[in-house]
Amino acid sequence: MNISVIGTGYVGLTTGVALAHLGHKVVCADIDEAKVELLNKGIPPIYEPDLEELMAKSRSRLTFTTSYREAILESDVVFIAVGTPANADGSPNLSYLHEAFDNVLKTLAHKATPTLLVNKSTVPVGTADRFMDEIRRRGMGQVVDIASNPEFLRQGRAVYDTLHPERIVAGGSERAARILQSVYKPLLDQEKIPFLHVDLRSAELAKYAANAFLAMKISFINEMANVCDCVGADVLKIAEVIGSDHRIGPAFLNAGIGYGGSCFPKDTRALQYIADTSGYNFKLLSAVIEVNNDQRYMMVQKLRRELGELAGRKIAVLGLTFKPATDDLREAPSIPVIQELLALGAEVWVHDPIAMEKAKELLPAGVHFAKDCEECLQDAEAALLVTEWPEYLRTVPAAAPGLMKRPLLIDGRNAIPENARAGLDYHGIGIPGTSRKEEGPVTLKF
Ligand code: UDX
Repeated sequence: MNISVIGTGYVGLTTGVALAHLGHKVVCADIDEAKVELLNKGIPPIYEPDLEELMAKSRSRLTFTTSYREAILESDVVFIAVGTPANADGSPNLSYLHEAFDNVLKTLAHKATPTLLVNKSTVPVGTADRFMDEIRRRGMGQVVDIASNPEFLRQGRAVYDTLHPERIVAGGSERAARILQSVYKPLLDQEKIPFLHVDLRSAELAKYAANAFLAMKISFINEMANVCDCVGADVLKIAEVIGSDHRIGPAFLNAGIGYGGSCFPKDTRALQYIADTSGYNFKLLSAVIEVNNDQRYMMVQKLRRELGELAGRKIAVLGLTFKPATDDLREAPSIPVIQELLALGAEVWVHDPIAMEKAKELLPAGVHFAKDCEECLQDAEAALLVTEWPEYLRTVPAAAPGLMKRPLLIDGRNAIPENARAGLDYHGIGIPGTSRKEEGPVTLKF
């Protein structure tokens, strides 16, 4: 099939590359000329494992352009995958989406053959219906249909997730679902992937529901970790016990300093906004968001309990991205942690294996950027492990005792294995013997 993809961010680019890999002829369009120039040289503007290799392999079926006309006129299916960042009130900013939609429709006005417009961006419920109304208003209802095909890929695993999805959701008419089934046929044939055909509104809401549910699991286990710290229990054991119940499942039960990234914080706030503006008070979701906001400061609280005043003391912050295997700093918990340390007068040194250049543009003045992990740890009075990059799990336990003034390590991801903690003054999140109340469990009064 001839397919175009509007927007070359994480979702758009990975979708375009994956569809070309599946055998379709794909044109990706973006208004950012510098990005398109890079892509035409075979260089992805984002860091994502396997993306560059897959791009190179599918090059003969893949082109990049700044011209919507060039992208769309030959296409049977047009995917829209532009950003919907959050506004200050939590509502999603749909200006990029509206602009893209309007430009696509203007171009489609010159095309007589049917086109399916597929939205991959995360949007408020009812957006596709409104788009359909606009298509009919412009007299294009006979040739243009609309579908919602939410994307569930994770950054750092974008290529893998796109080629091995847990399910494919197709919102829209029977005809739209049939076309999407043909688009994904090579994937559906190859593995037993559920193809779920639902109405447009349910497809739109399902994306928010999935992210909110996963965020809820994280906030739940984080609160359990905080309870563990109070009563002397081990959150790793709790996660193992509850996770082995298949009704709960073991994934997303890693306690730590909370979720970040471009999806969970934005989508939970957007769902809260959608519920609020529809007259429903989504109390559980509000608690998920509040718990996550508080959890980001848990490491600094532990640090202050150990060191007292932080003014003038060197603190090493290891890991800046919101999770490993990505260079993305959006809503990374490292940022509020660093701001809090600076506000308390600490001498803050930071390191990240791949996001240092991005971080230099983003972090507040006064932060010291270490050339490597060792420089970051040198003479530090404490280290905060904020992102569990695999290299830190090896180098930090080995290097910290020799380099630091005091080998105090606050592990915000519970990532350093137990057998590697010797020589460290180790403090995790919800791990016994590493928290304030070490005197044992609470005494019950009968
Ligand atoms: C998420 C969803 O997983 C994906 O399906 C959706 O399409 C986009 O949002 P992503 O933001 O790339 O993907 O990252 P993910 O791996 O889900 O992690 C999100 C955040 O939660 C990270 O900050 C991570 O560190 C944190 N997390 C995750 C935990 O704190 N504990 C866990 O157990 C899992």
